[in-house]
Amino acid sequence: MTTDADEVEEPLAGGDVTEGVVRVGDTVRRPVSGASESVRLVLEHLESVEFEGAPRFHGIDVKDRDILDFIDGEVAGRPWPAWVADPEHIASVARLVRAFDDAMEPLGVPARANGLRQGDIPRIPDSIAGAPTLIAHLDVTPENVVFRAGRAAALIDFDMIRPATRAEEVANLLLWWGGWMPEADREAASRNLDPIEAGALIVDTYGLDDAVRTTLVELSINVADRSWFLMKSRAEAFGGGWQRMWDEGVGDRTIRRAQWLRENANDLQRAVASDVSMVNPTSCRTAWPR
Ligand SMILES: Nc1ncnc2c1ncn2[C@@H]1O[C@H](COP(=O)(O)OP(=O)(O)OP(=O)(O)O)[C@@H](O)[C@H]1O
Ligand SMILES: [Mg+2]
Repeated sequence: MTTDADEVEEPLAGGDVTEGVVRVGDTVRRPVSGASESVRLVLEHLESVEFEGAPRFHGIDVKDRDILDFIDGEVAGRPWPAWVADPEHIASVARLVRAFDDAMEPLGVPARANGLRQGDIPRIPDSIAGAPTLIAHLDVTPENVVFRAGRAAALIDFDMIRPATRAEEVANLLLWWGGWMPEADREAASRNLDPIEAGALIVDTYGLDDAVRTTLVELSINVADRSWFLMKSRAEAFGGGWQRMWDEGVGDRTIRRAQWLRENANDLQRAVASDVSMVNPTSCRTAWPR
């Protein structure tokens, strides 16, 4: 396959949703999506504050694709490599995401980013996250982090960015890097991860205020409860990879995750918060329609 400039296109396999991501020389081309305009806003902001842990945006090519830097390094494919459960790797992800959020915070939540807010979905439980303070990444899966010399060097794939709180960002880290889901639903590489140890490591390394730490377990339950509705509505609205994920049981996995979080709420709360009194795992019990 070649482009207009006769450059070789090398397919990049990774996530579940975006098809047609390719490498061309030292750039990546991604089909323009609904999030592209906001991704551009975010990447241009990161460039202006000289944040090094994200690709630069270089415009749109003749095939209507975003042009981004290709970032050299190692990205986990499936099956995940064993190092996704290595504490040094995990801590480095928490540090990188902290730096990303620190770099994003001064931008705040510009009106142009309002379109990224999660829309209303019938019967979805309300979010308990509170008012957004920054545009967060919220999809920090191993497939979306570039590592160099065993340390997280850059975030890629900004399709899930939206106005959110730091606690929501950390809850996403706990899900992907802390093993906060039933063991049987984890990728093999993170099956032996201790969610208590990994959870404490992530939260300590990111460095959240005590008051925010006490909200993380309940927030994670709320995120899991909402996720069932969000995933279902994306499958219905967009089909493609979203429908594939739904058919493969992502909805049932989020239900099991919410149940696991409720069952382990007290232990998890002790791991991430000094004040254990606030956890109320039954406070937002949800009935998932079938
Ligand atoms: N800027 C980049 N630098 C280096 N590698 C990249 C870059 N962008 C993408 N890749 C590689 O291509 C893979 C797929 O890219 P990306 O994550 O952007 O799309 P996707 O995962 O298919 O989309 P989605 O997560 O929305 O389903 C990544 O997992 C990574 O290996
Ligand atoms: Mg991806």
